[in-house]
Amino acid sequence: MCGGRIPASTWNDGSGLAFAAIARVPPVVIMLVGISGSGKTTLVTKLTHGRPDLTVVSYDACQHLLDGTDPARAGRAPDITDRAVALAHARLRERCAAGLSTVVDGTHRQERRRRSLVAAALGVPVLALVLRVSPAVAIARQRSRARWIPDDHVLIHHAQISAALPRLHTEGYAAVLVTEETGRP
Ligand SMILES: Nc1ncnc2c1ncn2[C@@H]1O[C@H](COP(=O)(O)OP(=O)(O)O)[C@@H](O)[C@H]1O
Ligand SMILES: [Mg+2]
Repeated sequence: MCGGRIPASTWNDGSGLAFAAIARVPPVVIMLVGISGSGKTTLVTKLTHGRPDLTVVSYDACQHLLDGTDPARAGRAPDITDRAVALAHARLRERCAAGLSTVVDGTHRQERRRRSLVAAALGVPVLALVLRVSPAVAIARQRSRARWIPDDHVLIHHAQISAALPRLHTEGYAAVLVTEETGRP
């Protein structure tokens, strides 16, 4: 296991670290970790641009597939169910079995779901890329979006990720990379 931490004083969306990770030894799984509004989906769009070999597996997309909600409709985002996670991890497993690299877009605040992801990776190295922003920044960013989760949930999720950080390195990742922003909303 190796780890890295970007100085908190710099504006950083994690893309440099993620690009370096996917360029090194394919296949690789990048597990994004971050609260709603931390910039996970924005980063995924950057990473996969012009990379047909690299695909995102998204819990949001799997949830929409199972419950039929319109992802473009404004309102409170649905909670991600265990069935949606199972579907996402089944997709990840197939990608890993085929020797393909994958970015997994989700909050990953719960240890049992992170461990299920590692199992689904079938031995392909998993890099945990933690996008750290303050709850205030994330909440402000969420306001510009049609879909959002309640502010008190953002605070709880932030606390869960903060509590998990010190022991992430024990969960079987090839590396744990943490980016921190003092950034603007
Ligand atoms: N690095 C960044 N700097 C400023 N705004 C950002 C950044 N990353 C994302 N955003 C904006 O914040 C909002 C939430 O980003 P998003 O990628 O949807 O977050 P997440 O997928 O983690 O919930 C979007 O409106 C996006 O344009
Ligand atoms: Mg997102």
